Amino acid sequence: MPSTSLDWKNLGFSYLPTNGFVQADFAEGKWGPLTVKKEPYIPMHIAANCLHYGQACFEGLKAFTTKAGKRVLFRPERNAERMQLSAERICMEAPSVGLFVEACRMATEINKDFVPPYGTGASLYLRPLLIGTEPTIGVRASSTYSFIVMVTPVGPYYKDGFSPVQAIVLEDYDRAAPKGTGRAKMAGNYAASLKPGQVAKKMGYPIVLFSDPKENRYVDEFGTSNFIGITADRQYKTPESGSILQSITNEALQVLAKDMGLTVFRGPIALDSLDQFTEVGACGTAAVITPVYSVQFRERKFTFGRPDKAGETLTRLYQDLQGIQYGEIPDRHGWLTAV
Ligand SMILES: Cc1ncc(COP(=O)(O)O)c(C=O)c1O
Repeated sequence: MPSTSLDWKNLGFSYLPTNGFVQADFAEGKWGPLTVKKEPYIPMHIAANCLHYGQACFEGLKAFTTKAGKRVLFRPERNAERMQLSAERICMEAPSVGLFVEACRMATEINKDFVPPYGTGASLYLRPLLIGTEPTIGVRASSTYSFIVMVTPVGPYYKDGFSPVQAIVLEDYDRAAPKGTGRAKMAGNYAASLKPGQVAKKMGYPIVLFSDPKENRYVDEFGTSNFIGITADRQYKTPESGSILQSITNEALQVLAKDMGLTVFRGPIALDSLDQFTEVGACGTAAVITPVYSVQFRERKFTFGRPDKAGETLTRLYQDLQGIQYGEIPDRHGWLTAV
């Protein structure tokens, strides 16, 4: 499908065909060159480690067209560093920060007509993927890897406004183990989150809030986003836990919160203390911030603000971050990388 026929403002969050993806392969102790592939398929051995033993991790970041018409990536080097952290946890070879960022630039460049125009609220979603490709029957790490960056244009997350959602804590399911792989962005963590996600949806809750897997007493994170809460005395609070993903959006929002004069607290947040918050949000690359109106925990329902409208502080943080990403306000922290 040519990009000229795309209705940017009404795109969803799903795969659309593009001009191609980029790939580099690791074998005999070194990475080969980045190459462009046009067809969205990779030939693979049926015994490839990633298929059986889950040696697979990924990243997610976005490219934007700014108000001045430049194409930019948001902090790709942080995603590169996080991929290295994920890879280390599951014994994989990871691309260097330089190779990672270059692959992101290349994938954006070959798909430049799929980077949505400024003003549509849409963006290009980049999905770097690292997989173990060696045929392995005994359980051990692969010695060959493929690093891929595929892209797909995605629409504005809030077509109908910035509207709050309801979340639930499901104590029957954990996403990660106390000393497991929750900090890594590895494929298996998402497989583990599918069932509780489905159960919650059936109960009418679009998102799940996972509690800490050791005691089920503290907030960990939502299925695909970090937890942030704002208190009446202007504190920005977010959990510090060994089993959650270190969100790059959350990291940026903490900096912006400090710019706005808020105090940032990172530490344990007890589930039964959720009534301290006047605003709660789920933050991540896809939506920046999803306002959360309520959290159901056992028989208690905690509510934050209004069911039909996001709170003032989270709205300001959202606008500040999006403003930087779209080049509407100065990139005062140097977060944008030109493609
Ligand atoms: C489990 C989980 N937590 C948090 C996040 C948010 O991270 P980021 O802000 O880097 O997108 C994501 C999304 O990538 C995620 O999958």
